[in-house]
Amino acid sequence: MVSFTLNGKTIAAKAEGKTPLLWVIRDELKLTGTKYGCGIAQCGACTVHVNGKAVRACVTTLSAVAGARVTTIEGLSPDSSHPLQKAWIAEEVPQCGYCQSGQIMKAAELLAANPKPTRAQIVKHMDGNICRCGTYSRIIAAIERASQEA
Ligand code: FES
Ligand code: FES
Repeated sequence: MVSFTLNGKTIAAKAEGKTPLLWVIRDELKLTGTKYGCGIAQCGACTVHVNGKAVRACVTTLSAVAGARVTTIEGLSPDSSHPLQKAWIAEEVPQCGYCQSGQIMKAAELLAANPKPTRAQIVKHMDGNICRCGTYSRIIAAIERASQEA
């Protein structure tokens, strides 16, 4: 049993401590917004926050989050009202959508630390979150929109 806080609720996960957090979130806790892309920390589809920091859940073990505060896309806001979620809709960012929760969680880390980032800061921060559909320009536009409206 490993206890941690998931989207504001205390959870006691039954999986072995070495189990990747991604599988605990998706398979045991049934929150499927966080996606599996590569499994080796190369794409960012599995990005969640641990104590406010964006991490790749595919290479983060369950035991590593004992006592931590974990936030997934489902917990980013209670009603999809986070400025990034609204901006993502306004800019019609997603194509297939597969990478997008990871993109939003990575962007949320940026805006929490730097509410008014420059375009260069956005590009640098988002580097490494891969989108096979090539929605990068809309991702940047949405982050800029959210930073203006936040
Ligand atoms: S699935 Fe975790 S980085 Fe690709
Ligand atoms: S929207 Fe398809 S992978 Fe990004």
